[in-house]
Amino acid sequence: SAAKLRFDGRVAVVTGAGAGLGREYALLLASRGAKVVVNDLGGSHVGEGASTRAADVVVEEIRKMGGEAVADYNSVIDGAKVIATAIQAFGRVDILINNAGILRDRSIIKTSEQDWNLVHDVHLKGSFKCTQAAFEHMKKQNFGRIIMTSSNSGIYGNFGQANYSAAKMGLVGLANTVAIEGAKNNIYCNVIIPTAASRMTEGILPDMLFNELKPSLIAPVVVYLCHESCEDNGSYIESAAGWATKVHTVRGKGAVLRPALEEPVTLEYVQNVWSKVTDMSEATHLNAIAEASGSLLEVLENLKSNDKDAVEDSFSFGNR
Ligand code: NAI
Repeated sequence: SAAKLRFDGRVAVVTGAGAGLGREYALLLASRGAKVVVNDLGGSHVGEGASTRAADVVVEEIRKMGGEAVADYNSVIDGAKVIATAIQAFGRVDILINNAGILRDRSIIKTSEQDWNLVHDVHLKGSFKCTQAAFEHMKKQNFGRIIMTSSNSGIYGNFGQANYSAAKMGLVGLANTVAIEGAKNNIYCNVIIPTAASRMTEGILPDMLFNELKPSLIAPVVVYLCHESCEDNGSYIESAAGWATKVHTVRGKGAVLRPALEEPVTLEYVQNVWSKVTDMSEATHLNAIAEASGSLLEVLENLKSNDKDAVEDSFSFGNR
């Protein structure tokens, strides 16, 4: 029987908390003692209109169960205003869950510039603006937990979601750098890749799946990532249906594209070693950009020192 994880004294901002996943995050955080800013613009799932109702209903739910919360009706695009609500109401911000989102699904040919821009503004720019505003406070207090919300649509692509996929993969890149910049100040940034029944996925997910994909099953994973005891930084966590896993990028072993340093890289050589370039049987995960550039230095060193074995090992192909 582990001690209950509490958030007493912590202030959490949850964007898009008027419905779906965000609402569950807000409710769970508040039930564990956090003071919560329930941000929601209250528009439609395609980003039209605005209303105070979405945020107000969740604030009321939290207050009824004895928790503390305030509503914020700004668009996340005005991130500084969202964070200002936390500072005005509670004097600090410890946790930011970037969750607000919309869809404008269209095939690539039919995606208008407006659909592209609005989806990017809400997901990517909105997360940037809120994070930038919160980061300042987190740095001063030497504590922060930030969540970016990505999607399998970004990781794998999904028909009709060019704008959304691009924005969701952009959030992975944003999280990678925020994680690095925050580390020394105990500001950790992680990515959630959820699949949940909400108005966003209604009619998209198969009915049988839909009923089992309750947002409440994901909330404990995201809220755990926001706890001071969680040491993860820069992780991508996929969760749904009461299951979760870490997701990694991997890199193959690769192949050298020329026999010696003085030699050019030819098209034919590339064609010859292509199966090695794309062979993932010895793929590994790299932890940092330095490891990527470090391995390039190694390739050059091997070519320079004409270390036959090392070069052979990295570029040899069948008929040599
Ligand atoms: P939802 O539509 O129920 O909730 C999103 C909330 O964000 C809504 O209440 C909406 O009013 C609010 N919102 C939209 N634009 C806003 C803005 N500019 N400023 C402030 N609030 C705004 O959808 P759901 O499913 O709960 O999605 C939450 C997040 O999870 C989104 O970022 C979504 O892209 C992501 N996601 C959801 C998946 C799912 O299976 N439900 C899959 C992958 C990612």
